[in-house]
Amino acid sequence: MTLNDWFKKALREGWAVPHLNISSLEQLKAMVNVALRLSSPLHIGTSSGEAKYLGMRQCVALIRSFREDTGLPIFLNSDHFGNVEEAKRAVDAGYDSIHIDLSREPFELNIKGTKEVVEYAKSKNKEISVEGELGYLRGSSKVQKEVIQINPEDMTDPEQAVKFVKETKIDRLAPVVGNLHGIAANEPNLDIARVANIRVSLPDFVSLVLHGGSGIPDEQIREAVKAGINNIHVNTEIRVVYADALRKFVTENPEETTPYKILPPVIEAMEKKIEEKIKLFGSVNRI
Ligand code: 13P
Repeated sequence: MTLNDWFKKALREGWAVPHLNISSLEQLKAMVNVALRLSSPLHIGTSSGEAKYLGMRQCVALIRSFREDTGLPIFLNSDHFGNVEEAKRAVDAGYDSIHIDLSREPFELNIKGTKEVVEYAKSKNKEISVEGELGYLRGSSKVQKEVIQINPEDMTDPEQAVKFVKETKIDRLAPVVGNLHGIAANEPNLDIARVANIRVSLPDFVSLVLHGGSGIPDEQIREAVKAGINNIHVNTEIRVVYADALRKFVTENPEETTPYKILPPVIEAMEKKIEEKIKLFGSVNRI
């Protein structure tokens, strides 16, 4: 099954494919361990910064080796790559999935650049899945002390979404529906009616992606999936667990210098959080 096949299955069956970000081998190990235990597919993302740190070709090789060793459906995504050239480099490096995010550009330029990436990606790899983004997504993947207000004009307009999908021929759309990146001082309030409205306006073969999955109350996540979200991104909550567990271990064991002894408790702590999310998204036992 291709990644797009997994998205179709998720939409048909009413669950969401987990998209989890990595910038270390330990994060990936934790994700693979949980996905194996729970029989869940995995969509692994690297943002631009994460990909620069790990190396695109190294990420591709890592994902491929885990896929071969475990037999898990595990796919690599270029998360929020912000320009056409960078997205093309991810295609060339062998990414299974591309997210080209030109949502800060004027609408027509967003269409033009996204379409160019879709055409390039599909010409190189027929099975690739490409995502575009529409709307103004605030925040970043960290704990933010301030209140982040989402304005009505930040949100994705369903009519624009239809035009955007039709002209770009993307496989997945990332809308702004009250979500934001990271954890803010205020609780997000997803506009579920807008999710449902965008969902019914788009053809079934186009996936709806919820970014900024951290900090959203579980009940809102369930409602969003019911309304047609079939792919959910989480980064910050896993980063927080990683950093807290690492800090705790090195503080309590100041003499320990062996990485493979320092990091297993960190992996274990992340596994708990990842398991929570995979269960919440309903992707357990779907393989
Ligand atoms: P969070 O950091 O809020 O979980 O969002 C991650 C994300 O959307 C990556 O694309």
